[in-house]
Amino acid sequence: MREVPPADYVCCITGDLFEDPVVTADGHSYSRNAITRWLSDHDTSPKTGAILQDRRLVPNHSLRAAIEQWRTSNGDRAAGAAHRGPSSSSAAPPPTIAVVEPKRGHPGIFVGRGATRLLLTRSMLPGESVYGEELINTAFRVWDPTRSVLAAAILGGINSVHMGPGAKVLYLGAGSGVTASHISDIVDEGGCVYAVEVSPLSGSVLENVADRRPNLIPIIADARNPQAYCSLVGTVDCIFADIAQLDQARIVVLNANLCLKVGGHIVITMKASIHANSPANARTDGWNRTPGYPDYGQEVNHFRTEGFKPVEMITLEPYYEGNAVLTIQRSSVLRQG
Ligand SMILES: C[S@@+](CC[C@H](N)C(=O)[O-])C[C@H]1O[C@@H](n2cnc3c(N)ncnc32)[C@H](O)[C@@H]1O
Repeated sequence: MREVPPADYVCCITGDLFEDPVVTADGHSYSRNAITRWLSDHDTSPKTGAILQDRRLVPNHSLRAAIEQWRTSNGDRAAGAAHRGPSSSSAAPPPTIAVVEPKRGHPGIFVGRGATRLLLTRSMLPGESVYGEELINTAFRVWDPTRSVLAAAILGGINSVHMGPGAKVLYLGAGSGVTASHISDIVDEGGCVYAVEVSPLSGSVLENVADRRPNLIPIIADARNPQAYCSLVGTVDCIFADIAQLDQARIVVLNANLCLKVGGHIVITMKASIHANSPANARTDGWNRTPGYPDYGQEVNHFRTEGFKPVEMITLEPYYEGNAVLTIQRSSVLRQG
């Protein structure tokens, strides 16, 4: 079976395996050509949006060696796994799946059972792969949990992601459209995904993905400024936030106050790399009892004080150590003032 690269080996700008990985001043890695293009007209980190102290790029020798070793053990067929285009199932046989059935409790999401067990979405464009993912019976696309925290949360047992067929979703930090393409499948023709992405490089890949998906609307904008797009978006059923910013909770509240229906839900990813050094908050109320996890209580409390109700939190092992997904509901009573 064709191997999908581990998430740590994929550049967040190109959506592909790192090519000549380099580290920026803030310690994040990118493919050299991609970050060089980015730095030609930005002084910020593509990953965090923070100003970079300088434009120095240091080769990441250990990452390069790890990827070369991974390529050797998986064959070069794995190298283009993240590219958009028709499934290269001629290069490797698709996984053997005997039965496809709806995933219980998750409308619009499916599981395939056979020699292996896979999470699937029913493709809006049968026969087409978006980022190199496998197709099952041409109609279903494999949703890889190592490429999508939302898939990891579903496989990890989250009760609901609050975005079934017909839903309107505002997606903050859509990157190059990997997860956005699956949400587009889930909400189907009756629903809509407004996908906000600040990086023009990731945004151009996202726009390609959206070209043939009428329910996926790319918005190349900063989620810190929702006034720029709220009239286009209107009112949504769900906000999915995956922007990996320390002030993500504040950004999400800004968006929710403008765009989320009363009673609607927020699904938000929490990254250990972002929160590990954030100041702990005294009142966590058991939202983070897992040893070795950053204290996410501060984020939870931010939502509480803004009138939102935390519903569920799930950690994402074995796919993402120390990361979590939190769901929150907008209170049925509007916050005053
Ligand atoms: C973890 S990646 C997203 C991966 C994507 N959600 C997926 O599953 O395919 C975080 C993304 O958030 C974007 N981002 C960071 N700050 C942002 C902001 N203020 N507004 C919009 N997007 C932002 C980054 O450019 C990056 O593409």
